[in-house]
Amino acid sequence: MTALWNHLISCNLSDTIRQILQKKDFSREDLIALLSDNNPENARLITEKAYKVKETVVGRKVLLRGLIELSNICSKNCLYCGIRAGNYNVNRYVLQEEEVLAAAEFAYKQHFGSIVIQSGERSDLAFTDYIDGLLQKIKKQTYGGLAVTLSCGEQKASVYKNWLESGAHRYLLRIEASNPELFRYIHPNDSHHTYEKRLKALKVIQQTGYQAGTGVMIGLPGQTIENLADDLLFFKDIDIDMIGMGPYVPHEKTPLVIDHGMIPSVEERVRLSLRMISLLRILMPEINIASTTALETLIPDGKKAGILAGANVVMVNLTPQKQRENYLLYKNKAGIYNDEWKDFQGFIKMVDRSGETVLWDKAGSSCHFLKKMNVLSEILNE
Ligand code: 5AD
Ligand code: SF4
Repeated sequence: MTALWNHLISCNLSDTIRQILQKKDFSREDLIALLSDNNPENARLITEKAYKVKETVVGRKVLLRGLIELSNICSKNCLYCGIRAGNYNVNRYVLQEEEVLAAAEFAYKQHFGSIVIQSGERSDLAFTDYIDGLLQKIKKQTYGGLAVTLSCGEQKASVYKNWLESGAHRYLLRIEASNPELFRYIHPNDSHHTYEKRLKALKVIQQTGYQAGTGVMIGLPGQTIENLADDLLFFKDIDIDMIGMGPYVPHEKTPLVIDHGMIPSVEERVRLSLRMISLLRILMPEINIASTTALETLIPDGKKAGILAGANVVMVNLTPQKQRENYLLYKNKAGIYNDEWKDFQGFIKMVDRSGETVLWDKAGSSCHFLKKMNVLSEILNE
């Protein structure tokens, strides 16, 4: 009797999820229902729908970015991050110009089409000028053949503008948590870490003309399903072009780790991360969504799982091997000690077997951005 009852309840829930999935747009309540449901049959329905949307809109294609972790020196003290200024156990580094140019050249010669330069946040002139020079040299060296994404934190409007003029095309600045209270909970309570400044910087990035990306961590202490639903609506509301979001992974040398008991299990953080990717693909079909290293850190083949959930971008770490272990944002970060290039060859084969195609030599711009800018010629070339 109980089994029959459970079966009837689950059929009913499937019906509701089925009905929600047929809608053109999701309300906040719909998103909450879709995020909280952990019935395996419904999970299949949601993933299937997201994958179908992905297939028809951006195709079964994986866009590549070579990741260069330029420096782990950071002036900020985010409570969750392993390279926060207050962690004195970190060997700080800045890659030499030759190292960055060699990594960019490697990406170009290997037909990546695009790189991401990521760094801890610094706003001193020595740093901002260094980035400026690098952008100009990369552009010259690769004949403008590499699309460059920067992820170097909050900066003044004039700095964002200079970097764009020197050759950057895209900028990633995660909001980390779109709920101001949760944002405050995971950052120090000072004027250097405010929600308002983060939001303002994101707006300036968009206004400057970048393809703009943001994202959140999933499974943070104190984070609710409602917060996650609001994160998705926030991305839509600010009309973002690219998203990188993944599970929160505690780092033992950070203050937030004391709240470890408050976070969902690894399984649940993975489930929620994949569900967030699928729902966002349905909500914003034309944007670029990354399958993150944090996901790969929590489950084997995490990047592939992200792709099959609806993501279409993967980053390959091209940071010189000797510095990779110093860019530890969180515990057991994937790809630190293994030869990621070799892993990557395996990844490509696996992607192939899943019926996806890796796109070589493509800038891999966000279709959402190109359409907004009305750059039809570029859409045809993409
Ligand atoms: N777990 C998951 N992601 C993290 N990041 C920083 N620390 C962690 C962590 N402990 C992410 C943040 C940041 C990006 C560079 O790495 O979202 O924006
Ligand atoms: Fe610095 Fe970014 Fe880490 Fe915050 S999340 S401490 S800004 S590297």
